[in-house]
Amino acid sequence: MKSVVIQQPNQLVIEERPLPAPGPGEVRVKITLAGICGSDSHIYRGHNPFAKYPRTIGHEFFGVIDAVGEGVDSARLGQRVSVDPVISCGHCYPCSVGKPNVCTSLVVLGVHRDGGFSEYAAVPAKNAWPIPDDIPDRHAVMVEPFTIAANVTGQASPTGQDVALIYGAGPMGLVTVQALKGVYKVKQVIVVDRIDERLKMAQRSGADWVLNNGEQSLQAALDERGIKPTLIIDAACHPAILQEAITLASPAARIVLMGFSSEPSQIVQQGITGKELAIFSSRLNANKFPVVIDWLKKGLIDPEKLITHAFDYHHVTDAIELFEKDQRQCCKVLLTFGK
Ligand code: NAI
Ligand code: MN
Ligand code: ZN
Repeated sequence: MKSVVIQQPNQLVIEERPLPAPGPGEVRVKITLAGICGSDSHIYRGHNPFAKYPRTIGHEFFGVIDAVGEGVDSARLGQRVSVDPVISCGHCYPCSVGKPNVCTSLVVLGVHRDGGFSEYAAVPAKNAWPIPDDIPDRHAVMVEPFTIAANVTGQASPTGQDVALIYGAGPMGLVTVQALKGVYKVKQVIVVDRIDERLKMAQRSGADWVLNNGEQSLQAALDERGIKPTLIIDAACHPAILQEAITLASPAARIVLMGFSSEPSQIVQQGITGKELAIFSSRLNANKFPVVIDWLKKGLIDPEKLITHAFDYHHVTDAIELFEKDQRQCCKVLLTFGK
């Protein structure tokens, strides 16, 4: 089989590798579609501290089960599946409180173990979630990015009454907009970014109001309208955003952080305690595949609004370069396999 392998930072090759045999409790997936994410590009460029090389990247992937390992029901052969990249031990403290996404021996497919930019992958059977027939392949491959939004919103429990502010209209901001509007029916969702084309995409995904905070002051625009956000999500992830969010937030608001910056954020405690703000963080997803599959079944979210490009995997380098360079036109770029 062919796999997209990062041999060393900045060295991508399409390599011939032996077809993996599924181990006990595993299935082999014949992959048809995969999505490119910022973290794939970070591993490619050597900017992911968790990555070990060589590595087959890709943690957003969909395909069909074509072999099962020992102990797995052969009725699963032929099943269409989306694969949860989060592999956890099941018995450590975080696993015992429902947070396998921060398992003390966490393994993420495509980061710590070979992933989905490949013609085939062997994965734990319980990570391969069956996709109902009425959900098309192109939507099924988008389950993983939406699980990030399911995890974020699961922390903050949005309600119809909320006025939400989202920083960043990249793929992560957009999946969050769709969850807040489509699933939680949040009254008002405001999105800020520096790129107008991305703000247009946010509107298409349901944002009620968008603002270019590179051109105007967000604080002034909110003050002018008397708006104090009750829920703030940082999907832009610059370390300076936390203090701004604390300042802008309504008393009793919730703030959710998604960033992995290693730079310090300077914050004033009084701003948090004085308003009794709740600050959450969210990493990957904790058992959210069935949640998002249900959202798709009910038509509450529309992945199509995020997909801007698709490339045959032979052109994976062009696909990643376009994804990295053209934030104005690109959102989700898919790779197709099997041709
Ligand atoms: P992206 O880079 O495509 O989007 C970020 C957007 O934020 C860009 O459109 C950029 O113009 C905008 N931005 C940057 N600084 C801003 C500011 N000060 N104010 C307003 N907008 C600003 O990235 P993507 O894929 O949407 O991911 C967003 C962030 O989420 C990344 O930092 C990524 O590392 C993180 N992430 C976290 C995950 C988690 O599980 N916690 C999962 C996936 C991504
Ligand atoms: Mn991703
Ligand atoms: Zn664990």
